[in-house]
Amino acid sequence: MSVSTYMSRRQVLIGASATALAATLAACGSSDKKEGKSGEAVGQGDASQVDVVTWWQAGSEKDGLEALVKVFNAQFPKTKFANKAIAGGGGSQAKQKLAADLSAGNPPDTYQAHAGAELKDDIDAGYLQDVSKLYDEFKLKDAFPKTLMERLTVDGAIYSVPSNIHRNNVVWASVSVLKAAGLDPAKPAQTIDAWISDMEKIKAAGYTPITMGMAWTQMGLFESVLIADLGAEKYSGLFDGTTDWAGAEVTKAVEHYAKIVSFTDKSLYTEDWEPAIKPIMEGKAAYNVMGDWAVAGFNAAKKTAGTDYVYFPVPGTKGIFDFLADSFTLPEKAKHPGGAKNWLSCISSKEGQVAFNTVKGSIPARTDLTDEEKKKFSEYQRSAMEDFSKDTIVSSIAHGAALPAKASNAMGDALSKFAQGASDAKALQKALAEAYKAAQ
Ligand code: BGC
Repeated sequence: MSVSTYMSRRQVLIGASATALAATLAACGSSDKKEGKSGEAVGQGDASQVDVVTWWQAGSEKDGLEALVKVFNAQFPKTKFANKAIAGGGGSQAKQKLAADLSAGNPPDTYQAHAGAELKDDIDAGYLQDVSKLYDEFKLKDAFPKTLMERLTVDGAIYSVPSNIHRNNVVWASVSVLKAAGLDPAKPAQTIDAWISDMEKIKAAGYTPITMGMAWTQMGLFESVLIADLGAEKYSGLFDGTTDWAGAEVTKAVEHYAKIVSFTDKSLYTEDWEPAIKPIMEGKAAYNVMGDWAVAGFNAAKKTAGTDYVYFPVPGTKGIFDFLADSFTLPEKAKHPGGAKNWLSCISSKEGQVAFNTVKGSIPARTDLTDEEKKKFSEYQRSAMEDFSKDTIVSSIAHGAALPAKASNAMGDALSKFAQGASDAKALQKALAEAYKAAQ
């Protein structure tokens, strides 16, 4: 069912099914700001190089970037790719450095961000160029699904180009641990309460029931519990003011979350996603909730789906796809705007998207893949493509689709404080409500 809603002021759509879109797109109107502030056409200028900031700096994420760069070098041999990747999953370090560089007027030529509300502050500050002309030039408007185009469109303008789509609400589980606890890996729990009772059994069998790492991974787990307890429509209402962050439904989700946190291993709270998911790969812990870049991690560790691990939607969220998309910008004051244009062309091309996404664990943002091209993807990825086409789509908080960076950062801080025992469930809910309010 449709869960179409708008963010106040900037009209960033945060939740909609594919059926509710025509009116929305019409309402976006057209922009009179189709050119960079310099007055030059978008992406004109120095193409000798492109400085690209991502956080795909290690492991399977680096492998994905390398696969993309290979295509880039073949497509644009005269543009030198300069890798400015900054370590830290979820952009935990990159975002701070980017904020400082942007405010100092020293942007890279392009940087990784997420489709949706996350870019609001950068757009409002005038840091980004409207790249909608490139969508016309590269013929992208029909290549991407409408749900994605809505999240990219702000007052009729578009400020980034997506390379892929990820899903956040996925549980990755160790087959050997589930079996040792007497659970059937093929029959996962269907509700949060049933999942918690499975965690009790896993604990009793002597294993860590669930792991989580640093703040953004905690946010990924928490938002999945919110989706399970509120359902798609009320969850999406949290971002347009129609669902109250201080209300009883959120209280229930916070209480469920508190119980789940009590099963985690504290020593992992400062770790990135890879060390936090490793105990699942090693058969030491049962569950980890992580975006589906995790499948690339399991592949890189030579683990087999079905035998070593299983994956399933977070209990209570079946039929809901907690969406995020990596999306690249073209900042005002980029030193190599021509290089940035070439990068945006490559990442949005079919060739670039197939090469990158097969390695990265994500699915292409483009929907015009042939059956032959789809066959290049893993079984998990083909199931994600199928789910994306039929599930209800909601926006991830942890990965920038749902809320401006200011709000999701403050929520991450509140979750971190809670996990460390420095606040209780009541204080956590209050802090979440305040973080939402402060960003309006
Ligand atoms: C990005 C993914 C990345 C993940 C972990 C997310 O915010 O969208 O591309 O794999 O963070 O670093």
